[in-house]
Amino acid sequence: MSQRLQEVRSFEEDAEKRIPECARPMFHLTARAGWMNDPNGFSYYQGKYHLFYQYHPYKTIWGPMYWGHAVSDDLVRWKFLPAALAPDQEYDQDGCFSGTAIELPDGTHALLYTGVRNENQDDGTIEGVQTQCVALGNGVDYVKYEKNPVLDERDLPEGASRFDFRDPKIWRKGDGSYRLLVGSRSVRDFDGKLQLYSSPNGLDWTFLKTLIENRDRFGRMWECPDIFPLDGKTILIVSPQDMLATDNEYHSGNGTVAIIGSYDDETDTFIEESNQTLDSGIDFYAPQTVETPDGRRVMIGWFQNWDTLKPPTHERAWNGQMSTPRELHLRNGRIVQSPVRELETYRRNPVRYSDVLFSGSLKLDGIRGRCLDLEIELEADDPNDLYQKFTINFAENESFHSSVSYKPGKGSLKIDRRYSGTRRAFLTDRAAKIQSVNGRIKLRLILDRFSVEVFANDGENVLSMTLYTVQSADGISFHCDKPVRMNITQYDLCVSS
Ligand code: FRU
Repeated sequence: MSQRLQEVRSFEEDAEKRIPECARPMFHLTARAGWMNDPNGFSYYQGKYHLFYQYHPYKTIWGPMYWGHAVSDDLVRWKFLPAALAPDQEYDQDGCFSGTAIELPDGTHALLYTGVRNENQDDGTIEGVQTQCVALGNGVDYVKYEKNPVLDERDLPEGASRFDFRDPKIWRKGDGSYRLLVGSRSVRDFDGKLQLYSSPNGLDWTFLKTLIENRDRFGRMWECPDIFPLDGKTILIVSPQDMLATDNEYHSGNGTVAIIGSYDDETDTFIEESNQTLDSGIDFYAPQTVETPDGRRVMIGWFQNWDTLKPPTHERAWNGQMSTPRELHLRNGRIVQSPVRELETYRRNPVRYSDVLFSGSLKLDGIRGRCLDLEIELEADDPNDLYQKFTINFAENESFHSSVSYKPGKGSLKIDRRYSGTRRAFLTDRAAKIQSVNGRIKLRLILDRFSVEVFANDGENVLSMTLYTVQSADGISFHCDKPVRMNITQYDLCVSS
């Protein structure tokens, strides 16, 4: 084991002890210490879910990347394992960037990742040369392959940048051969692309083709691809940088795009049909998926986003968390998401109210808390007298609150953290387009200590945002300008390590 890996393993063991459990989210995974970004190597291996992550344990800001490591039996309760990768070789000395994992036929857990080595440029700047690398292991310890890097700039088609060539996604085809999809962009105009490679064994790779080109549709450089079958279609996920906002689907900045289509296995061709975002909120990026043993497709994302990120205040010893894992399905041609069903086994203390008729402001006995699974069904009492705006405030006390509000006239569902107690001038609200009949809408809020995820209409849209409001602000209130009828079910979420 390299000295850098040894050092980080002993550092993180101590550093973890200095972060009290209640200072972390209850069940959203955070770095064992310090900084976390993308999920990596999300896989099911030898009876457990493995989740690695982009990791800089020494600070709460991004730095040379390691791979942190956690395992889980049910995708809800995670246990830290020692860091898996350190930037300790010449070809990855400036970072082990994102990638994926697969079990090889001999039972080895293979990690495919991007190695970064900085290079001085003629104009005095520094650029990272990015190559694809392999590490082989047993679910705890990983050894970097002696023939690394397995793909470098010589394997790029003409015109593709060697500085933006990263985040390999590996999969195995029915015929036993492997494919690797790698994020890329053209030197000339920054246009995003995905390069496809093939291998007989997961180790020796040859360039096959450029699978898909952005052609100036979704941002510029495409990061973190994933590709998988879902309900008879093939879904291709990318996380583009520098997106432009569109009226009803995408926000500007770093975003997520799911392209729904089909994959021709004979010719390795992806045929696009439609596209959509995977999260309409503020904090979500670089998701990856895993197939569960019972055949579900579950996605987890970095519950933060480069464009909306601000340095943490001194109050936190960690920065970055993972989203709730979400089951994916196709409904009417769109991907719908729901919190992984295992979360339901941690529901306690149900509180139910049926057919509550109210207008103005309302608080209900027993409806409060910061770690909750809260379901609300709403509709206008009189369809001819439609409300303009319905709001749920949460994480609320005299000074602070955050909210989700729905305007049926505009068809707009908005999350807002303006008054969450932030000391940072960051992005505070975002909205998704959701049409309704009679102002009818169904919302499920997953609240953890430092976040909310809003699943609208059984997961047709999801809006995620982090919040750092003091934990004593645990009130919930409802507000509406016209009479509405509500059904509410609240559960405490109780996940202990
Ligand atoms: C996405 C990303 C990846 C890269 C990693 C570096 O968030 O920029 O493209 O591998 O983060 O930490």
